[in-house]
Amino acid sequence: MRTTTHDLLKMKQDGIRIPVLTCYDYTSAKILDSANIPVLLVGDSLGMVVHGHPTTLPVTLEMMLLHTAAVARGSSKALIILDLPFATYSPNDLPSSLRNAARALAEGGAQAVKLEGGAHMVPVVEELTGAGIPVMGHLGLTPQSINQLGGYKIQGKTTDAREKMLADALALEAAGAFAIVLELIPADLAQRITQSLKIPTIGIGAGPHCSGQVQVFHDAFGLFEDFVPKHAKRFATLADTMRQAAKQYVDEVKAGKFPA
Ligand code: KIV
Repeated sequence: MRTTTHDLLKMKQDGIRIPVLTCYDYTSAKILDSANIPVLLVGDSLGMVVHGHPTTLPVTLEMMLLHTAAVARGSSKALIILDLPFATYSPNDLPSSLRNAARALAEGGAQAVKLEGGAHMVPVVEELTGAGIPVMGHLGLTPQSINQLGGYKIQGKTTDAREKMLADALALEAAGAFAIVLELIPADLAQRITQSLKIPTIGIGAGPHCSGQVQVFHDAFGLFEDFVPKHAKRFATLADTMRQAAKQYVDEVKAGKFPA
């Protein structure tokens, strides 16, 4: 049976940390599902680590649907969350927001969507949850606003910013969000937000006190070599392994050793 949003709430209540990984394709989804990763986030980070864009901004809903459907075909146990890409949701256009989010479930095979932003996104969260679409929030460093934020910097450093982020988190929870990603914020702020909410927080670069953690697949397994975010931990070095294997293949073909 697939993990549900209710299971995540129960995990927080029971003090069980929630491991989340991003995933973008069928083969990886099969592997992560067999490793019992309870939540697979089809993040718009795929624009950078799969498609080679410098930001997540060029990612389209069509790209997200294609990747999410592949992940859904590879996974039977994980909760699959489609990350709504840049400018596909807005409090100023609720009908389009609902249409786009509905496609995530109907065509992508996701069970939930994620969107970036605080209290100003409350009407969108209410519209989607009211239509039966579970919504995960995302606060702190929100990459779709990179041009406003002026770079990939730690958020929530001033007293005002800290209070606003807590208020944003409470507003998203009240609007019906089932969880909130906290990205690149001080650990003590993440702890305060986590303790103030009933719903789980999922941290990335937000310290150890969140209800769960999310990492980007290509960072966690050492596949993406353009840069390594400070908050990423490499649990494997697959780029090295693949390079080695590719060199061996080249050598064996050239030497006439493969095929035997
Ligand atoms: O796009 C993504 O992968 C994300 C996670 C880093 C939270 O939003």
